[in-house]
Amino acid sequence: MLPTITVLRGDGVGPEVIEAALSVLGACHPVKVREALIGGAAIDATGDPLPAETLAACRESRAVLLGAVGGPRWEDGPRRPEDGLLRIRQSLGLFANLRPAKFLGLPTPLREGLVRHADVLVVRDLLGGVYFGEPRGSNGVEAFNTWRQSTEQTARVAHVAFREARRRRRRVTSVDKANVLEASRLWRATVNAVAKEYPDVELEHRYIDAMSFELLQAPHRFDVVLAENLFGDILSDEAAAIVGSIGVLPSASLGEQTPLFEPVHGSAPQVAGRGIANPTGAILSVAMLLEYALDRPDLARSVERAMAEALRGTRTPDIGGTATTSELTAAVHRHLEWLRWQEPQETAAYEWGV
Ligand code: NAD
Ligand code: IPM
Ligand code: MN
Repeated sequence: MLPTITVLRGDGVGPEVIEAALSVLGACHPVKVREALIGGAAIDATGDPLPAETLAACRESRAVLLGAVGGPRWEDGPRRPEDGLLRIRQSLGLFANLRPAKFLGLPTPLREGLVRHADVLVVRDLLGGVYFGEPRGSNGVEAFNTWRQSTEQTARVAHVAFREARRRRRRVTSVDKANVLEASRLWRATVNAVAKEYPDVELEHRYIDAMSFELLQAPHRFDVVLAENLFGDILSDEAAAIVGSIGVLPSASLGEQTPLFEPVHGSAPQVAGRGIANPTGAILSVAMLLEYALDRPDLARSVERAMAEALRGTRTPDIGGTATTSELTAAVHRHLEWLRWQEPQETAAYEWGV
């Protein structure tokens, strides 16, 4: 039976980059695609940013591929598209968010000599911290949120970081604000305890403020960067400066139930609907899906290679070019064909579900 992939296109550039990503997935591996609503599109159709049918479809699937949610249309409304994203992560128990940032040869605001060897994997706790802590609220005069982080939450994501480090350069940099926050002190103690199980992996700690500087000053120094939810959110966008655009970063969210794959970027309302969105983050998310959900690291490497080759000559405006989304996607397909011709792989086809 073909693996079912639930596709959540979402808002803004979401549908445009997903179209591109899905064509690449279809060219690599036979899958059954099932579409469902999330975010602003789901609010418009049902009043709920995460309808029950969407969650049920995700639970029955091998993987979820998501575009982006949000946009100015829903910013002041009673229901927020972003709630759909937070709820899907929580409902599927997706506690570990992997966000790789690797030099792709693109122009970056940093000195090329610095970023040429950059290959960072941000491992972000996706279900803890101030994002989900209770109590929270506002009376219009004062608002409050609670930063809560249990040892269990920290340990499970730390294990993911150490395991990933073993597949890489065996170094974990854990980021916190242990000089100020109790939640961070417990975070650091917990990471230290987990590290004892991985004597072959080097662990170091950084405060978030110093780390924000050092990541740009010496990106090549870092391997796996382990961070709690809010710090990881910020650091992963910062890591986009290493690679050249927020439009090129992919992510995988792993945990208890169906894994979810999505680009790091948002709905980019400024470029939405113009056919110029950068599909790289979404296409590289398909590579992560092939590796983590379909257990085909070989195909993941092919997609990464084809993407990198395509970017040498074809670039969207956010990375200094004039190409459209479809032109860059077509270039990826040409390079995939070329790789396949070099090394024949199974023929792919894909079926559309309902
Ligand atoms: P954003 O990532 O949408 O955009 C940041 C900048 O990068 C903008 O200049 C945008 O034009 C550009 N950009 C982003 N993706 C691009 C792409 N694929 N191609 C070309 N340029 C791209 O972040 P934002 O502007 O802070 O947020 C916009 C909306 O997206 C908000 O509603 C926010 O809540 C939402 N958001 C959603 C997600 C998600 O769905 N995972 C992530 C971040 C933000
Ligand atoms: C991300 C986004 C989300 C987050 C928002 C849209 C809820 O910024 O995926 O990085 O903060 O996690
Ligand atoms: Mn973010």
